[in-house]
Amino acid sequence: MDYKKNPWPMMLSFLFICLSLNNHPSLGVDTISADQPLSGDQTIISNGWSFELGFFTPDKSPRSNYYIGMWYKKNSRRTIVWVANRETPVSNRFSCELRISDGNLVLFNESQIPIWSTNLSSTSSGPLEAVLLDEGNFVLRDGSANSSKLLWQSFDNPTHTWLPGGKIAYNNKTKQNVQIISWKNSEDPAPGPFALELQQNTSSFIIRWNKSVPYWNSGPWDGKIFSWVPEMSRNYFTNVSYVSNENESYMTYSLYDPSIISGFVMDISGQIQQLSWLESTKQWNLLWSQPRTQCEVYAFCGPFGLCNQQSLAFCSCLQGFQATSSNNWNLSDFSAGCARKTSLQCGNDSLANGKRDEFWEMPNMKFPDHPQTVAVGNSSECESTCLNNCSCTAYAYGHHCSIWIGDLLNLKQLTSSDTSGGTLYLKLATSELSISPPSKKRMTLLLISGITSAIVLCASISMCIWQRKMSKRKENRQINERNQAHRMLHSESHVQELIDLGELKEEDEKGLDLPFYDLESIRVATGNFSDENKLGQGGYGPVYKGKLPSGQEIAHRNLVRLHGYCIEGSEKILLYEYMPNKSLDFFIFDQKQSMSLDWEMRFNIILGIARGILYLHQDSRLRIIHRDLKTSNILLDHKMNPKISDFGLARIVGDRQSEAITSKVAGTYGYMSPEYVIDGIFSIKSDVFSFGVVLLEIISGKRNTGFYKSEQAMSLLGYAWGLWTDNMLMDLMDETLQDTCIADQFVKCLNIGLLCVQANPSDRPTLSIVIKMLDGETVNLPTPKRPAFFIGRDQSSSTSSNKPESINEVTNSLEAR
Ligand SMILES: *[C@@H]1O[C@H](CO)[C@@H](O)[C@H](O)[C@H]1NC(C)=O
Ligand SMILES: *[C@@H]1O[C@H](CO)[C@@H](O)[C@H](O)[C@H]1NC(C)=O
Ligand SMILES: *[C@@H]1O[C@H](CO)[C@@H](O)[C@H](O)[C@H]1NC(C)=O
Ligand SMILES: *[C@@H]1O[C@H](CO)[C@@H](O)[C@H](O)[C@H]1NC(C)=O
Ligand SMILES: *[C@@H]1O[C@H](CO)[C@@H](O)[C@H](O)[C@H]1NC(C)=O
Ligand SMILES: *[C@@H]1O[C@H](CO)[C@@H](O)[C@H](O)[C@H]1NC(C)=O
Ligand SMILES: *[C@@H]1O[C@H](CO)[C@@H](O)[C@H](O)[C@H]1NC(C)=O
Ligand SMILES: *[C@@H]1O[C@H](CO)[C@@H](O)[C@H](O)[C@H]1NC(C)=O
Ligand SMILES: *[C@@H]1O[C@H](CO)[C@@H](O)[C@H](O)[C@H]1NC(C)=O
Ligand SMILES: *[C@@H]1O[C@H](CO)[C@@H](O)[C@H](O)[C@H]1NC(C)=O
Ligand SMILES: *[C@@H]1O[C@H](CO)[C@@H](O)[C@H](O)[C@H]1NC(C)=O
Ligand SMILES: *[C@@H]1O[C@H](CO)[C@@H](O)[C@H](O)[C@H]1NC(C)=O
Repeated sequence: MDYKKNPWPMMLSFLFICLSLNNHPSLGVDTISADQPLSGDQTIISNGWSFELGFFTPDKSPRSNYYIGMWYKKNSRRTIVWVANRETPVSNRFSCELRISDGNLVLFNESQIPIWSTNLSSTSSGPLEAVLLDEGNFVLRDGSANSSKLLWQSFDNPTHTWLPGGKIAYNNKTKQNVQIISWKNSEDPAPGPFALELQQNTSSFIIRWNKSVPYWNSGPWDGKIFSWVPEMSRNYFTNVSYVSNENESYMTYSLYDPSIISGFVMDISGQIQQLSWLESTKQWNLLWSQPRTQCEVYAFCGPFGLCNQQSLAFCSCLQGFQATSSNNWNLSDFSAGCARKTSLQCGNDSLANGKRDEFWEMPNMKFPDHPQTVAVGNSSECESTCLNNCSCTAYAYGHHCSIWIGDLLNLKQLTSSDTSGGTLYLKLATSELSISPPSKKRMTLLLISGITSAIVLCASISMCIWQRKMSKRKENRQINERNQAHRMLHSESHVQELIDLGELKEEDEKGLDLPFYDLESIRVATGNFSDENKLGQGGYGPVYKGKLPSGQEIAHRNLVRLHGYCIEGSEKILLYEYMPNKSLDFFIFDQKQSMSLDWEMRFNIILGIARGILYLHQDSRLRIIHRDLKTSNILLDHKMNPKISDFGLARIVGDRQSEAITSKVAGTYGYMSPEYVIDGIFSIKSDVFSFGVVLLEIISGKRNTGFYKSEQAMSLLGYAWGLWTDNMLMDLMDETLQDTCIADQFVKCLNIGLLCVQANPSDRPTLSIVIKMLDGETVNLPTPKRPAFFIGRDQSSSTSSNKPESINEVTNSLEAR
């Protein structure tokens, strides 16, 4: 089962473009020469058997379009890394030929017309040969001269993949950029809208949309990493270097261990990704990708599309619009976008019913690009300016009047916490507005307080039904308690999924194992949705606070959960427990706020978190692995009790299974264990690792990511280990704990923290042992071994970022659907 909150659905299946493996008769050589062309099913293989080249057809391609491509020979799943005739496929590969012709390597189509060529003008004297080198470079050279001089190489003409040894270059003479450009979609290798290139004057990478609009910048190269890509420091095997001279500037890289298969890909999702191949799972493992969130990709959802990071599908069409028939979001072809369901009345002289166009209000939006400012004094004039101009599609009135002409691109729904946007008014035909009035349009989130004060006042029939269910459950309490955590997660993810798909309906009630509330009781609880109780605007819709007289015993006091829901007509409401005190990171990393958490509270928080995780882990039949434990996912209630939230990435592993493997490593850098990051193996021990990091952060008041203390220690773990070995344990303590800290408890916590972050999962204790240790039942604690991710001076793969705040954790949620 897949539990995810924020998957990037269209992305992972296309990471590299993977194809099923066919057995091709190989020419048995690595060379195409004048008397040995390549045709049909023939391939050439590099001499170390790393790469193979020949005709291929993209997986899923409905037409038989054949391209000359290069793929890894050793991988059991074929992954294309280079394509020759990106834009000019052939349909019958047996009557096409790739051969040396007139000093060039040329692909001839069925009519023997050249459709792709290396385009060299100067002719070489000797006989030419095209050789597939073992590093993945396809080169054209003089075969007789035994010279290393290359006339042409695929490394200078990459497609969507940057292989080790290849260059992303800027030529100072011709002012030309070598770019890597995404595929159009998963079945069409033609150049797509996204291109990565070097910006020479700032020694950084940028990604451009439509060959022009830059929407992402890596930050300058600091010698080890790009400053705004701190994740690169967690990368042990890539040695990137930057070269700049009077002729050219370029980035190139090598792998310390040449047996590792890894590459950078400009993906059809508009993200640059670094991947490595995991033979154990036969999958590509995503090491990092940028921009981190899908909605940061420019115009990701196309014209009149709306990107919402909180939604499962990311893209939707604006009110009154529908996906165009050519819109193929399944194939990640985002250029198509959305079209009007009803054309505007504007300019229609034969207005029989006299109806004009109207405006749809869209609050909390990031505005589209290219607004035009109109000098009018008030919003009603702004509105009529747009109404009277038939090419105007939207307006906004803040300090001045802005109107938009033509397609709306790059529109984003902001979250409630982001107040940088404003209200956009979208022009629609009147009939599109009357379908569903704005008040019913969105989902309401209700945060309820007072759940723990368990008093039952069953007001509604549906509540009573649920209560009956509860009493029936009592009969089978033993079994049910085991199932409870499982059900909780299942219902929560199921409800979220239905909402995201816009498919949560009244009839779903029966299938969901969640309390149902009627609208009336929610009205009462929120004072008829009064502004007083409105907490803000979320990605789904408004968020209200409410008090319900319900008596539900919550599943566990250290877990936050979806508490119930309500559907009535188009009104959809989710109920979550209300946590008045924000999340743990708000307190411990803030100099002022951290004062309010004394040692006793912190120790209780540590214990509470441990109990919460134990609850997830201890179930013998169905273990739950959270996979994204971090301080920002620990919420605090009014008594500062910790509650683990966000089960978006949680997974259930079955009977006696203690670990599982995923090809889609999702989690948060700095909290993920090495075996999870590198091999995709997650287990209760990877949660233990995350717990260890959280514990060390709580007692030290320092973040693991972005930590910089000295040359020797470039992570909190490394720093803590250094203090441990130097026997300077108390130096780790958060200064604000000076007066309240109990020394032997502190040392115990540090010891446990280090035990939890040990490199070898089997060395780490389970949570039940951790709790015994914390409770003082175990007197002599084991001595920890050196932690994972301990990076000392000798290993140069770490970062010395002086911008820790920019390294703020971002859940790298990359589950495929
Ligand atoms: C070969 O390419 C030429 C030029 O693009 C084109 O006119 C011709 O139709 C192609 N032949 C076949 C059989 O596709
Ligand atoms: C070769 O030149 C033709 C015509 O100028 C161009 O269309 C084609 O893209 C070029 N091929 C390569 C591989 O640069
Ligand atoms: C080419 O170089 C290889 C070794 O690099 C050598 O064995 C071979 O004899 C050379 N051939 C010619 C024609 O020079
Ligand atoms: C670098 O060059 C680009 C144009 O190529 C320009 O827009 C940008 O401002 C330059 N940046 C700096 C820091 O000079
Ligand atoms: C993409 O770029 C081309 C020219 O480079 C321009 O004509 C076109 O309008 C651009 N597309 C959009 C949607 O901005
Ligand atoms: C990294 O690459 C550079 C340039 O290719 C090289 O000089 C350097 O020795 C490499 N570093 C290591 C540790 O291999
Ligand atoms: C690029 O070339 C120009 C002259 O063509 C030179 O002035 C400039 O310094 C060169 N840039 C670099 C980075 O070497
Ligand atoms: C730059 O190009 C010139 C002429 O092609 C060459 O002589 C020189 O060695 C090159 N410089 C570097 C640093 O490669
Ligand atoms: C896209 O995928 C969904 C479900 O995976 C499917 O129902 C739908 O028909 C697909 N659309 C297209 C255009 O392939
Ligand atoms: C103009 O309006 C009339 C009546 O509402 C409608 O039937 C007709 O299709 C409209 N024409 C256009 C071009 O929208
Ligand atoms: C907006 O301005 C116009 C002209 O200045 C004025 O006639 C109108 O009453 C104003 N409307 C509002 C709502 O202030
Ligand atoms: C609509 O507004 C745009 C931008 O202000 C202007 O260029 C265009 O001429 C206007 N069209 C009409 C019909 O007024």
